[in-house]
Amino acid sequence: MSMHPVQVIAVTGAKGGVGKSNVTVNLGIGLAELGRRVVLLDADLGLANLDILLGISSKSNISHVLSGQCSLRDVLVEGPCGIKVVPASSGTQQLVSMGPREHAGLIHAFSELSDDIDVLLIDTAAGISDMVVSFVRAAQESLFVVTDEPTSITDTYALIKLLNRDHEMYRFNILANMVRSQQEGRDIYQKLVKVTDRFLDVALQFTGCIPYDESVRKSVQRQKAVLEAYPRSKAALAFKALAAKVDSWPLASTPRGHLEFFLDRLVQGAHVR
Ligand SMILES: Nc1ncnc2c1ncn2[C@@H]1O[C@H](COP(=O)(O)OP(=O)(O)OP(=O)(O)O)[C@@H](O)[C@H]1O
Ligand SMILES: [Mg+2]
Repeated sequence: MSMHPVQVIAVTGAKGGVGKSNVTVNLGIGLAELGRRVVLLDADLGLANLDILLGISSKSNISHVLSGQCSLRDVLVEGPCGIKVVPASSGTQQLVSMGPREHAGLIHAFSELSDDIDVLLIDTAAGISDMVVSFVRAAQESLFVVTDEPTSITDTYALIKLLNRDHEMYRFNILANMVRSQQEGRDIYQKLVKVTDRFLDVALQFTGCIPYDESVRKSVQRQKAVLEAYPRSKAALAFKALAAKVDSWPLASTPRGHLEFFLDRLVQGAHVR
């Protein structure tokens, strides 16, 4: 087993379209610019987001790894700034619903890589599906992307409540996206704190905010990350600040900080249900 610590962060947010995939991609590039070796795992089955956002394509995906046709290294696609992407496929569903024997193979496949990874970022799907819950509870850290829409706040609250009540999670990082001002970002965070403080025993951390910026939309259309296409835009600068902050998060020196531990938890969670 590799002893190299890997920071595993799930990017989530319950509501669709709040910017989870853009946050994953730009946080990943931001961390790579700081010298981290970053792998993005596209865990959104519905729409294979990351490869479209980055304008990359792949022949194989994780289901080919699980069936033994190729190694994980073979499915990784290289993105900007040297980040690597594990493309989405129906294999992602397999990840959380397979039997113990395949788990061993999967853990082996990832452990071959873990010496070459510093950060694994997981882009989860919208909603509160078992799969989303599995990824978030297995990761060391989670980043909840929230916008000012009332449904974003209520959906995020519902996900936090589920994770707290059923999975004993109590620490959550909140990122406000598409804000018109810093104050709006703080207000979104405060709205969430108000309901969680009233009904749950959880600690919400304000991780910061990303401004609403047309450059994000334009770069999505160009199939490029905003950090690449418009590196001096307001959104890009905010993503760089976010990366610096995330980079300063302490890395668990316990088994929790190992990739194998994440995979163990990921597959165990599937068994418990
Ligand atoms: N900071 C921002 N400023 C302006 N537009 C943004 C910003 N963040 C995201 N968007 C817009 O919102 C759209 C949805 O973003 P994204 O695909 O990242 O959301 P998502 O949460 O991953 O969605 P899904 O739930 O469908 O996976 C993007 O196409 C982009 O145009
Ligand atoms: Mg997405």
